Amino acid sequence: AKRITTHVLQKMKVDGEKISMLTAYDFSMAKIFDDAGIDIILVGDSASNVMAGHETTLPITLDQMIYHASSVIRAIKRCFVVVDLPFGSYQGNSKEALSSAIRIMKETGAHGIKIEGGEEIIESVKRIISAGVPVMGHLGLTPQSIYKFGTYAVRATEEAEAKKLIADAKLLQEAGCFAIVLEKIPATLAKEVAEAVHIPIIGIGAGKYVDGQVLVMHDMLGINKEFKPRFLRRYLDLYTEIYGATQAYIKDVKTKDFPNDNEQY
Ligand code: KIV
Ligand code: NA
Repeated sequence: AKRITTHVLQKMKVDGEKISMLTAYDFSMAKIFDDAGIDIILVGDSASNVMAGHETTLPITLDQMIYHASSVIRAIKRCFVVVDLPFGSYQGNSKEALSSAIRIMKETGAHGIKIEGGEEIIESVKRIISAGVPVMGHLGLTPQSIYKFGTYAVRATEEAEAKKLIADAKLLQEAGCFAIVLEKIPATLAKEVAEAVHIPIIGIGAGKYVDGQVLVMHDMLGINKEFKPRFLRRYLDLYTEIYGATQAYIKDVKTKDFPNDNEQY
């Protein structure tokens, strides 16, 4: 199959073909997603939550992101792989941002990086892009700023924040970003952004009028039992499936049903 590149993604927007994106953090899941034909895998810093069990995305380190990303990269043949720059690896200055991006590209073999924010990080975005590294923006609900926001509620419902978001999207496009993720904002605002820029806009909780969709794999597979935001569609109830399988295994071991004569040497 033809490899997905930033050019292919750009053409999808022009052709009106929606872009499919999921997060992955390890080899085995990435292999399934790539085999199934996903367009983009995001090695998200949501690994901090779903893999490491932290309450926020802030604690995950650049080294840990590199471990996840290099595992994912070994599995893929076709899709485009983007890696989040974690909290604390780019906010200091654009030089620090560039060296973090370079570490990810060199040590993992990923195809691009994602970075949260607009105007406040634009120098870093430009510097990373000038080094030849594709950059995906991320606006709206940016989880690394959770302690500034105070909640995970829908963002940019007020005029001023909506205006800044549109301006930020244009800035990111001018800086050379190949795509932007919009998280948890009104669908009509996301539509406005998707029409205001020519680069693909990929939504999570941003409605149907954008150029693609992304979900966290644990959410869409139903591994997280408690997390049920309105924007989430669950394609499996893996929590229940795995819980049941675990109980069946325990029972088989306890009752000496497993292993049987055919399952031993
Ligand atoms: O880390 C992540 O999973 C993300 C997506 C929610 C876009 O940034
Ligand atoms: Na993220």
